[in-house]
Amino acid sequence: MGWADWFVVGFWVLAGAAYCGWWRWARWGNRTQKKAAAGGGAAGVAGSGGAAGGEEERRRIPRGSKGWPLIGETLEFIACGYSSRPVSFMEKRRDLYGKVFRTHILGKEVAVSTDAEVNRAVLRSEGFVPCYPRSVTELLGKDSILKAEGALHRRVHGLISGFLKSPAAKAAAAAEVERSVLQSLSDWPEKGPVFVQEETQKITFVPLVKVLMGMGPGEDLNFMKEQFHEFIQGLICLPIKLPGTRLFKSLKAKEKVKNIIDKIVEDKIQAGEPSMANDVVDVLINEIVTNYLPEMPISLISSIITELMVPGEHSVPMVMTLAVKYLTDTPLALKQLREENLTLRREKVNSGKPYAWDDYMSLTFTHHVINETLRMGNIVNAVWRRAIRDIDVKGYLIPKDWCILASFSSVHFDDENYSNPNEFNPWRWEADGICVSKFTPFGGGRRLCPGQEVSRLEISIFLHHLVTKYSWVAEEDTIVSFPIVKMKRKMPIRVSPVSV
Ligand code: HEM
Repeated sequence: MGWADWFVVGFWVLAGAAYCGWWRWARWGNRTQKKAAAGGGAAGVAGSGGAAGGEEERRRIPRGSKGWPLIGETLEFIACGYSSRPVSFMEKRRDLYGKVFRTHILGKEVAVSTDAEVNRAVLRSEGFVPCYPRSVTELLGKDSILKAEGALHRRVHGLISGFLKSPAAKAAAAAEVERSVLQSLSDWPEKGPVFVQEETQKITFVPLVKVLMGMGPGEDLNFMKEQFHEFIQGLICLPIKLPGTRLFKSLKAKEKVKNIIDKIVEDKIQAGEPSMANDVVDVLINEIVTNYLPEMPISLISSIITELMVPGEHSVPMVMTLAVKYLTDTPLALKQLREENLTLRREKVNSGKPYAWDDYMSLTFTHHVINETLRMGNIVNAVWRRAIRDIDVKGYLIPKDWCILASFSSVHFDDENYSNPNEFNPWRWEADGICVSKFTPFGGGRRLCPGQEVSRLEISIFLHHLVTKYSWVAEEDTIVSFPIVKMKRKMPIRVSPVSV
């Protein structure tokens, strides 16, 4: 660009900044006048478009600021997300306006709740329905379980939960995960630096695909993994669907994943109705074929299965990776974890019996470590809902069509709920008084995560074999929380075998 271009750009930037400054100032003045007229009552309330009428009702609408025109408070929201304290955006506004406040982020006017009770009410109420960013809804498609409502949602949720919690599925999952963990860990010492974030993705994907659709290792699985990876890159992106854009590429990859799953479903149907469900696809086929449910087309199966693979690719491996990070930084916790797991390992070696699901679930301190990792890691830091009518929640009024963001991370980092919340302290889970209702890493209410137990199992199997057979030295790395939780350098460590 020549100097003339720079001049024009500079002019428009200055003009834009001046306009925004004026607009904000004018708005602020206007708001202060209104506040004075209302006798110092609720400030910054009553957005246009809110269905709630009447002065009294408007006062109960969460207070806050809409920020700049168009972009609202998005820039600050993103900047805080990238900082070492992502909850600082919420904390600042909570101190100004209270535990539930309004803001304007990512193109939406939203109420944000940092209050555990309000979050619980939102998760349980039928009056709130899911509302996700456009890129997510575009990619997950019309059959998404995250968006599904009413009877269909209850049915599908029940089927998946029922299967994943069944003793047979748990035993199968434990065996698959154990095989995958042992195979993967045995290569780590020779690898030089191991990138835990990448390696744990490999560990969890294969067993998940087996539990979901009975697919074993091979070319199809490798191709699917590749395409699936491409697909989830687009979950948080600009919602523009033109050739070459992120969303476009992800949609194409989703189509390829869907074709593979459709083929598996067709083959299973051709082979005859499965008498006993060995995987989630069997469960869904049994339901559709046996009970012929017109509202549940066969095409729904590939959509559900694709969605169920998302946690296998991101959530579970990320908790494993964060646990390694926090344990590296907290040697006392690592020592106690190792002792507990060595006791189980010696027991198993002496008895010659294989590990069972119950063995891994009996490791008390290991589960304290997992809880603390989930509390601090906040893999799902919030859920989004939309009010389908004006709704009263704990004295607040959420007007019809407003989105509400129930922030789990704010509750998990609130020192009213957890003392020294920024400290990794697995021992806090030993205390009797620890309030489980304020701990919601897996959500709650009608949409409580059906993969909760399987996830805990996978993470404890990984930790057990890692700490009893290996030691490691980690390179410097930091946690990034936006747009999704990940490690800046994928958590490089050097691993050595230990003798027991
Ligand atoms: C550490 C790992 C995981 C975390 C932190 C996690 C977290 C969550 C959260 C917070 C929700 C609630 C979303 C909402 O209310 O809108 C959820 C829903 C869900 N999760 Fe997980 N999840 C994990 C692993 C898994 C696994 C392994 C599976 C399946 C194999 C799974 C399957 C699902 C499904 C199907 C839903 C939707 C439930 C519904 O809307 O009815 N999750 N998960």
